[in-house]
Amino acid sequence: MGKRSRLRKKEHQNNSKPGGRDNRDNAGWGAGYADIIKENKLFEAYYQELGLVPEGEFDQFMAAMREPLPATIRITGYKSHAKEILHCLKNKYFKEIQEVEIDGQKIEAPQPLSWYPDELAWHTNMSRKILRKSPLLEKFHQFLVSETESGNISRQEAVSMIPPLLMKIEPHHKILDMCAAPGSKTAQLIEMLHSDMDVPFPEGFVIANDVDNKRCYLLVHQAKRLNSPCIMVVNHDASCIPRLQIDTEDGQKGTLFYDRILCDVPCSGDGTMRKNIDVWKKWTTSNSLHLHGLQIRIAVRGVEQLAVGGRMVYSTCSLNPIEDEAVIATLLEKSEGALELADASVDLPGLKWMPGITKWKLMTKEGQWYKDWSEVPVNRHTQIRPTMFPPTDTEKLANMKLERCMRILPHHQNTGGFFVAVLVKKAPMPWNRRFPKLRKEQSSSSLPQPEDSPVGTPLPETPLEDGERDGGKEAGEDSPKEPEAGDQAKEPNVCGPPPNKKMKRHGFKEDPFVFLTEDDPVFPPIESFYDLSPDFPKINVLTRTHEGKKRHLYMVSKELRNVMLNNSERMKVINTGVKVWSRNSDGEEFGCAFRLAQEGIYTLFPYIRSRMITVSVEDIKILLTQENPYLSKLEEDAHQQAKKMGMGSIVLKYRPDKSNPDGPQCPIELCGWRGKTSIRAFVPRNERFHYLRMLGVEVFRDKQGQGPREEEKEVKEEVKEGETENGNKDVSPKQELRGENRGDEHLKGDEREGGGENLTST
Ligand SMILES: C[S@@+](CC[C@H](N)C(=O)[O-])C[C@H]1O[C@@H](n2cnc3c(N)ncnc32)[C@H](O)[C@@H]1O
Repeated sequence: MGKRSRLRKKEHQNNSKPGGRDNRDNAGWGAGYADIIKENKLFEAYYQELGLVPEGEFDQFMAAMREPLPATIRITGYKSHAKEILHCLKNKYFKEIQEVEIDGQKIEAPQPLSWYPDELAWHTNMSRKILRKSPLLEKFHQFLVSETESGNISRQEAVSMIPPLLMKIEPHHKILDMCAAPGSKTAQLIEMLHSDMDVPFPEGFVIANDVDNKRCYLLVHQAKRLNSPCIMVVNHDASCIPRLQIDTEDGQKGTLFYDRILCDVPCSGDGTMRKNIDVWKKWTTSNSLHLHGLQIRIAVRGVEQLAVGGRMVYSTCSLNPIEDEAVIATLLEKSEGALELADASVDLPGLKWMPGITKWKLMTKEGQWYKDWSEVPVNRHTQIRPTMFPPTDTEKLANMKLERCMRILPHHQNTGGFFVAVLVKKAPMPWNRRFPKLRKEQSSSSLPQPEDSPVGTPLPETPLEDGERDGGKEAGEDSPKEPEAGDQAKEPNVCGPPPNKKMKRHGFKEDPFVFLTEDDPVFPPIESFYDLSPDFPKINVLTRTHEGKKRHLYMVSKELRNVMLNNSERMKVINTGVKVWSRNSDGEEFGCAFRLAQEGIYTLFPYIRSRMITVSVEDIKILLTQENPYLSKLEEDAHQQAKKMGMGSIVLKYRPDKSNPDGPQCPIELCGWRGKTSIRAFVPRNERFHYLRMLGVEVFRDKQGQGPREEEKEVKEEVKEGETENGNKDVSPKQELRGENRGDEHLKGDEREGGGENLTST
């Protein structure tokens, strides 16, 4: 293994170490803080000397660093559903908390983060110990745990919520999240893309990437909770993530340039010391010195693939200028004016931050200081690089406007430490401005086309092959070779898996993604059973097998299909597509072999024109608390609709009733099954709990994890029934990841045996 490869491996290992930034979003609710001495003389000396903290505040800064981090939560999901959860939190749990006294002391109620839009993020100082001290708080705790499991709430550090907000996402944006796992920011990006809930397929998409194959599956788990057809998880080293090709509107092949890029790089993570207390023991500057090169390489690869007029947000949870301003200054310098730092000062009103610095020094792990590159002895030249120091040309430095970078200090708003900078691309990168040499084997029509950017007026930017770059050399010089740009899918309509064993050895062994053609025989029965509207985009449907029966059908947006089919062998796709239909175990018996899948119902719903029953709040309560209620248990209106309908898969549709402000104010669509004499909802357990809560029903898992406890008297009986028939038990995240205990598993059993009724034999 060469020196560079060893370095790269070490960099990667460092990023996965406990106590590194990786762990920052992973702590459970109210995770305890072990006793550890929160002292590190070198850390204190370094930051005191750098002068990042305003005069007179250093003691406060250090004191805040030693305090445990308050928990912050973000309400996730799409607009009206998120609003409903917020309503539930504010009007129920937070109100109740205000009444609670522990040892004669009132509890400090959670507070919204002033700078987060629509009160969708809150912070609380309550520890798990406190949460367990009163039954009312325990109820709140259970709510948080359960809604976190079902993905409606995320525990996310306050500062980590900042970068997506600065990206100014619009539904048509093509977005790349370069270092995305575990994916809390990716989730924000997906939500922003779907800001209009009535549009099932926004034009834009998010490609979420991580170098770590295992962590890509965390990303898949995170993204799946949002049921979006516009997200794809890929597995590449971001510093050499392949350029992708797409079909452009004029029928040509063009290079994909992203409108928005999130470059949330691996870092030393000293801003996370309040949560990852291990950092206290381990902190030296060597991690920062070590990561600086990788951070530059990733960021350079990012700006190369950014559309002219697009924005790239660079962030770290390190306070160290070597990982922050030094990387930004290097990017600006290399860009020769193609990049500018945007002034984001007004974008998050209420957020306190310190402007980026223009002077800094470098300290080694032994505590040796260097003011500039000229002082660095030759034997240190491999570890310390000129790009780690501020630019020496004062005019250049002033033009960079590094003060537009934002550093968030822990004592200003009781948060972790963070750094973020917003870059706007004004012109192609200088090393991409030259036209590539014509190659004999490359006809002019197959040459990458000049940028076709939806934003701004592009200058021609023709990306060169990695080896042809000059300005970007440092960034890409030791990049492993990606599959050749000319490689195309061997079969039309199929994406992956790569045939080559080497990729498989590296953890890439996904099933293929096979797009269906419009005349696929699977469609006619589906079309007639669900009376699909003529604009249903059949070509966006895919399956995960080449041969044999299709078990599940998935959908992706038109643009993601375009990306997948054009880059089949270039891209390691881990996952994409939302499941919309699954095969019934009894095939065609009910008029159609495929039943609707809950996870894809919001995507499919606009195209379905039959098999729909409009239900009331009371009907949903019955359907979600009983296994197979008789049709007659529904209210008269729904009962009549159900009676007229043949057996098979159905949609249960609820629409807000303006005259009943206490009912949920968001539309709800649930998948179900019309049996011979009964009806049921096929909704995964976590989601059942979630919807029941939205309807004002308080659902509990008991301590043994045996199932929901129901407090409202009027539905007590039904919940009891649900407890025994559902056989609920806690779902561990691992089971979730494996897809166990989800609606599907549930359904197979139910199809065979049913609850009050055998569905397949009736
Ligand atoms: C700070 S974490 C990202 C956190 C993530 N953006 C979030 O909000 O959940 C850094 C991630 O970068 C990944 N990483 C490290 N080196 C990388 C590389 N060369 N290319 C892509 N990802 C990398 C790590 O596996 C890790 O998941």
